Amino acid sequence: MLNQVSDLPSPPAAGLDFAALRADFPALHQEVNGHPLIYFDNAATSQKPRQVIDALVHYYERDNANVHRGIHELSNRATTAYEGARVRAARFLNAPSANEVVFTNGTTEGINLVAQTWGRKFLKEGDEILLLELEHHSNLVPWQMLAARSGVKLKYLPVCGDSGVADESKLDELLTPSVKLWVFPHISNTMATVNPAKEWCARARAAGITTLIDAAQSAGHRVVDVQDLGCDFLVFSGHKILGPTGSGVLWARAELLDAMPPWQGGGEMISSVDFFSAKWNTIPHKFEAGTPHIAGAIGLHAAMDYLDTVGRERIWEHDRELAVRAWRGLQSLGGTRLFGPGEDRAGLVSFVLDDVHAHDVVTLADRQGVALRGGHHCNQPLHRKLGIKSSARASFYFYNTPAEVDRFLEVVAHIQHFFRRGAN
Ligand code: ALA
Repeated sequence: MLNQVSDLPSPPAAGLDFAALRADFPALHQEVNGHPLIYFDNAATSQKPRQVIDALVHYYERDNANVHRGIHELSNRATTAYEGARVRAARFLNAPSANEVVFTNGTTEGINLVAQTWGRKFLKEGDEILLLELEHHSNLVPWQMLAARSGVKLKYLPVCGDSGVADESKLDELLTPSVKLWVFPHISNTMATVNPAKEWCARARAAGITTLIDAAQSAGHRVVDVQDLGCDFLVFSGHKILGPTGSGVLWARAELLDAMPPWQGGGEMISSVDFFSAKWNTIPHKFEAGTPHIAGAIGLHAAMDYLDTVGRERIWEHDRELAVRAWRGLQSLGGTRLFGPGEDRAGLVSFVLDDVHAHDVVTLADRQGVALRGGHHCNQPLHRKLGIKSSARASFYFYNTPAEVDRFLEVVAHIQHFFRRGAN
């Protein structure tokens, strides 16, 4: 049945067989370079289960029509499915209202929308935005662009070396009255740090500071509850949480969205148009100009259903167990520099091998069928601070297994051996 996880035990029992869920993911069942694929690039994008693919096919084969415009049957179906996805996203985030859910094409667009609407209207020269040295470019460049335009100043909460943990002792001096916005990643895509989002939001609220959480690396891996977190804005991408590329969500408190000017102009975002002026639609439609990514929202709905049937608490534990296994294994190999807060981490590990470029690590791992990411992970300033140009990263999801981690460790040991032999 559409939007249901058909093959799962119901309800998922303790000790759920994560490996069995792999059957739902067609892309995992292939060989790469003559080896079974081990997909450890989940922080970049996740694979898609059959249920999400089926939801997209179903929409395109049976319900394809534009939303909010037609009175015919197909348009009604498409509208019901699209708005149903919005209600589902609100439930996924425990948002008070579906009107607070704006569909975007991903994290980056959500942040740009906030910077260019709320930021331009409510921040003025002399105001400050507090960021974290962990920011990936999505949650950094939009604020730099705003600063260049409006004279707003950016300042950074530092992180402590290779641990990736924020130096909270600096907060007292950084949280001055000029700080009007505090943006931070829930989970770092490079360091696997889990930031104390709830505590920071409470602190910001007490000081009258607006908060934006970049949940790109958390939304699909753990429960993200906007009311519990107490944030003002939160963004995530659909493609990292089993959904289609080009789908995503910006959540914001209704009064903020109401006060924000629209972003892009066009159909859908208006209530009436004259030759020289227009009136805006209500939220959230005010922020969704033109034909939206209808299929994306429908696929995202199926993805959220899938995740919640598996259980995000369970996924969180599983991903962290794999990361700790990888972390311990890499440590015991020696000749590695590991990043992030030891074993208390989210489900990924970034590392460099002595005397081996990260791109060589990733290329050689790929020859063994292991997909890693190598480079700066859209995180150049942090890499510069760490004194490196790039790192290799293994990032895990619930369909990965301990056996895959062990194979990855064998491959890394083999790469080390290959380069040591070459050096002699
Ligand atoms: N920010 C994404 C990553 O970490 C693209 O790979």
